Amino acid sequence: MKIIKILFCSYLLTSLNIAFAQQDEKMNKYIDDLMGKMTIEEKIGQLNLVTGGEATTGAVVSTDVESKIKSGSIGGIFSMTSPQRIRKAQELAINQSRLKIPIIFGMDVIHGYKTIFPIPLGLAATWNMPLIRGTARVAAIEATADGLNWTFSPMVDISRDARWGRISEGSGEDTYLSARIAKEMVIGYQGGDLSSNNTLLACVKHFALYGAAESGRDYHTTDMSLHRMYNEYLPPYKAAIDAGALSVMTSFNDINGVPASANHWLLTDLLRKDWKFDGLVVTDYTAINELSDHGLGDLQQVSTLALKAGVDMDMVGEGFLSTLKKSLDEGKVNLEDIDRACRNVLVIKYKLGLFDDPFRYCDPERQRKNTLTDEHLSLAREAAAESFVLLKNENQTLPLKKQGTVAVVGPLANTGANMPGTWSVSADLENTASLVEGMKQALGNSVKIITHLGANLTDDAALQERATMFGRTIPRDNRTPEAIIAEAIQSTKQADVIVAALGESSEMSGESSSRTDLNIPSSQRKLLEALLETGKPVVLVLFTGRPLTLAWENQHVPAILNVWFGGTQTGKAVADVLFGDVNPSGKLPATFAQNVGQLPLYYSQKNTGRPLAEGAWFQKFRSNYLDVSNEPLYPFGYGLSYTTFDYSDLTISKTSITKEDSLTASVKVTNTGNYDGQEIVQLYIRDLVASQTRPIKELKGFDKITLKKGESETISFVISPDDLKFYNQQLELITEPGVFKILIGPNSRDTQEIEFTLTD
Ligand code: BGC
Repeated sequence: MKIIKILFCSYLLTSLNIAFAQQDEKMNKYIDDLMGKMTIEEKIGQLNLVTGGEATTGAVVSTDVESKIKSGSIGGIFSMTSPQRIRKAQELAINQSRLKIPIIFGMDVIHGYKTIFPIPLGLAATWNMPLIRGTARVAAIEATADGLNWTFSPMVDISRDARWGRISEGSGEDTYLSARIAKEMVIGYQGGDLSSNNTLLACVKHFALYGAAESGRDYHTTDMSLHRMYNEYLPPYKAAIDAGALSVMTSFNDINGVPASANHWLLTDLLRKDWKFDGLVVTDYTAINELSDHGLGDLQQVSTLALKAGVDMDMVGEGFLSTLKKSLDEGKVNLEDIDRACRNVLVIKYKLGLFDDPFRYCDPERQRKNTLTDEHLSLAREAAAESFVLLKNENQTLPLKKQGTVAVVGPLANTGANMPGTWSVSADLENTASLVEGMKQALGNSVKIITHLGANLTDDAALQERATMFGRTIPRDNRTPEAIIAEAIQSTKQADVIVAALGESSEMSGESSSRTDLNIPSSQRKLLEALLETGKPVVLVLFTGRPLTLAWENQHVPAILNVWFGGTQTGKAVADVLFGDVNPSGKLPATFAQNVGQLPLYYSQKNTGRPLAEGAWFQKFRSNYLDVSNEPLYPFGYGLSYTTFDYSDLTISKTSITKEDSLTASVKVTNTGNYDGQEIVQLYIRDLVASQTRPIKELKGFDKITLKKGESETISFVISPDDLKFYNQQLELITEPGVFKILIGPNSRDTQEIEFTLTD
């Protein structure tokens, strides 16, 4: 029987391989024929990606799009939406360009399309892989129904410096968690069949190391050892590519002296040769032109560098369009370089099914039926509630009772436009419920809600303007801060409890939104102080796109619920959690520092030669600060629940394994509190002795479980030598025999430990 099964499986695999090979052959023949008819100008035209002019995501806007489509000078358009508009543009290409080559249509579909999910950092806080995949799937359904076939997502840049505004767009600080999420997003977008009319081509960005910008300043330099790159920063990009992502976006930054968009080592040696990536490489917005500002030469020179490094498509800058023919004539690039890039663009179009039917994504009926459906909205509500992280809950301030009067006070209370969060360019801001509106919809008449601005986002009007761009407005009151606060306090007199809706506006994080001060703006801090002085219970509902510094709030406010930016359903989800319909379960995907001076701060640090003694916070001649302990305020993986979980009985199946073996680590988790709840059980490993320094712990597994009150479950993790691998100084992926520590717990700090040995 077994033999028959094996024979059948190998027959199936062989037949599949033959089928794929036949498909590839058909595609290659089609593209060869097409390229045989193309002029050099038409080939270069395919490498040109322009803006469609509907959403502004950069400083330059493309011109003469219509005439360029007709002359075959455009391969792709992004930020153009609606099946009708996209059909019109596609018709120009199909009916009026010489070779009728269809256009691909892209967009930044980052955390939802019309139904907006939490910002990616918030989604990461759910640690819920099926949920995350589901959000990408919904985004693909809605975006393709609006005519699109390409998203510039997932963004998988690891960041350990909360000053960098784009930390909001990724999955945080950790290699393992980010890699797991990268894979889910790609599968969610691309599905099993890219040519289906409801799957989107994924684009992994920003390749590479964009999140390691010096001093957290956007677009700044990255200089990093190869060893660190391979072990800590590259795995999420690789995971996305291994999951089948068929496009990659280059990053803006310099990497060890060569900017990514001109980096042959990165785009060809690593990406194409080592990782066997055979998809499309596109630059970020005007990144080729910016190579001139990096100091690499004029536009012709840098366009040549980018093409030769491995870039296929030029986003917005038109360096390729305007200079490559000249460079070819002058012998600075070869026809093979241009052919390679053109082929990569055409292969994508073929795989998307555009040569079969260029209008397959242009069905207004699908757009009407598949957008903002009840099912999508309920997933958004669930995802938002799961993304919230309960940072503090003294004396069980939360959950609140559904009765009496609640005052919702603060600049984030009444702004629908700020709920979707940064990089939600397709969100319908006008029709997004504010926190208060959403809460009212969820709570009906059970609770009376009163509300007040209480404070401006910041006292600095010019800063507020910069922090509320792209229509993300927040009402501004031009009276003195004292007058605004006094009025708010007066209005809270009738309230039983106060919800302070404070923090960042959505555009205080995201692109070009780096900050050096990560406290809640002082206008809002003063309001919070006044609210606390009323003596009423105060819950801080914190909006933020990054880990803020909350030492003061942690000391003074009884309950803090971090809600990031939860998307379309924020208000309802906040009501669900505040009033106990949903028990919070999110855990931080990035460390919250005590102050900005600790940054960059992350849990998987190296030990140094002078670590602090356990429990000490300052020792002379040890690695620490004079003025603050090394500890974060809230560690990676941290988050509370309305119930409590007890971890006990950590055991391993074997104390020693060989390189061919594996072991199982188990821990008993018991819900010891008064509510049913979800817990994220985390597995970390420490390599105690190695031929090179290793992190003090690294996440290697997790399990999100649901336990009823009083219930226990034994959670097991299989640990194999693969989990112990690392890149050595020669960049070989190796396992070394020795002693390892297994650490399991509810976060990266509060773990229980047990050791095992790996033998040869
Ligand atoms: C961003 C990318 C984005 C692109 C297109 C750039 O400014 O860095 O993340 O995909 O614009 O909108």
